[in-house]
This record gives sequence, structure tokens and C-alpha cells, in this order.
Amino acid sequence: MSENEKPYKVVLIGESGVGKTCIINQFIYNKFDTETMSSLTAQFAKKIIEFSDNKRINFHIWDTAGQEKYRTLAQIFYKDADAVILVYDVTSQKSFDELKNYWYGQISRIEKKDVVIAVAANKSDLYEERQVSNEEGEKFAFEKNAIFGLTSAKTDTGITGLFDNIGRKILDPTFDFAANEKKMREEFERQKKIEKKKEENKSYNAYAHKAKKNKNSKKSTKQPVQNNSFFGFNFDNCC
Ligand code: GTP
Repeated sequence: MSENEKPYKVVLIGESGVGKTCIINQFIYNKFDTETMSSLTAQFAKKIIEFSDNKRINFHIWDTAGQEKYRTLAQIFYKDADAVILVYDVTSQKSFDELKNYWYGQISRIEKKDVVIAVAANKSDLYEERQVSNEEGEKFAFEKNAIFGLTSAKTDTGITGLFDNIGRKILDPTFDFAANEKKMREEFERQKKIEKKKEENKSYNAYAHKAKKNKNSKKSTKQPVQNNSFFGFNFDNCC
């Protein structure tokens, strides 16, 4: 298939700062920036993806500006979309409320009758700061017959799976994306465990380093530690 083959337009919409640009950058270029400029207009990138059964899809992915003052302008870009990804930030209740109250309503402006709708619950790596539960996001997506994806542009979790599901659904509207979603959730849980372990190892290594330094500088008169935890790092919970 060449790049000239029929392109399918996928547009990301949602509040400013939810991570639309980062999702695209991760999906297309495999990169993540902690400092990004707020988008002032729409821009697009291309990517062809190939499924295991040799079916392929040519995506034209559009990033739109989430800031309120650009909302009217953004409408021009999604009116002829084949698929829309509604993005919210799991650490921002406001971004989820706006998604339900404003952004979802924008889909009625799209001319294509069978537009594929997806909901991306982004920044899922920040699980400690979560304000919107997975269940709330999933419920909303389910009610709107939309694909749901837990994503993290930072850890590259759930993004490929989300676009895979969208591609499948565009090519075959009867596609059962629920089965694919199960795989995505499992992958998310796996990533979450890896990240948590990394964090725990980091604090343990910092402690061990400090303890070694102290030991070298003075003889310790302390009694041996009786339990299995250091500064809240509990070895019993570790594995
Ligand atoms: P507008 O262009 O203003 O509409 O914003 P946007 O939705 O495109 O957000 P953008 O991709 O610019 O990301 C905003 C901020 O969130 C940046 O500081 C990113 O580094 C951060 N960010 C994006 N995705 C993630 C993620 O998955 N996890 C974490 N921890 N931070 C993220």
C-alpha cells in the first residue's frame, strides 16, 4: 500500500493540557516531552499501521488546540473526520466534565454518520493523583458506544492498542473491540507494576547508598532492624 491509498482522518479533541500532542508524538515518533507548547492551531501527521492479518490502514492524525479561544477554529478540522478521539486527563476532573459537557457534543457536527468514537483516559501513569476512576471513564465510553483506552503518552501505554482498535473499527464496523480492550488493560496493569517497582527500587537504592556512607564515616551502635521495612519500603509487599 502506498501513502496515496485512501487516508482515514482521525482527530484528537479535548481540553488544553490533557496530552493530545504527546499521544500523537508517542504514536508517530516514539518520543515524549515533559515541556510542550500549547497548540495554537491544528497540525497533522501520517502513519500507516499493519495488522497481524495483513490488513492495513493509512491514518491521517490531526491534533487540535484545546484552548477555549480556539474552539471554533478546531471545528473546521473535525467536521470531515472518520474517527474522533476524545481525550481527558485522569488527574483532572474538570477535563472529564468538559469532555462530557462540551467535547462529546461536538461530534454531532461531524458529517460522517458512522464516525468511530474513542475515549482516551490519558496520564494513567499518574495513578496516585487520579481524580477520575477508570470505571467512570469506561461507563461514559460504554454509554456512547465508544472505544475506551487507558493511555499514558509518558510510558507509552495503551496508545498503539487504541489506534489499532480505531483502525479495526473503521475497516470493520462490526469489529469486537472489547476483546482488544481486555489486552490493553492487562498491558496497563503490567506497566503499572513495573513503574511502581522502579520507584520502590529508586528509594531503596537511595537509602542503601546513604546507609553505606554513614557506615563508612562512623561505627554504628544501632541494634539490627527487626522487621522487613526501611522508610516505608516493605519487602513483604515487594514481590
Ligand atoms: P493543547 O495543545 O493546549 O490543547 O494541550 P495538549 O492536550 O496537546 O497537551 P500536551 O500534549 O501539550 O501535554 C500537556 C502536558 O501534559 C505536557 O507537560 C506533557 O508533558 C504532559 N503529559 C502529556 N501526556 C502525559 C502522560 O501521559 N503522562 C504524564 N505524566 N504527563 C503527560
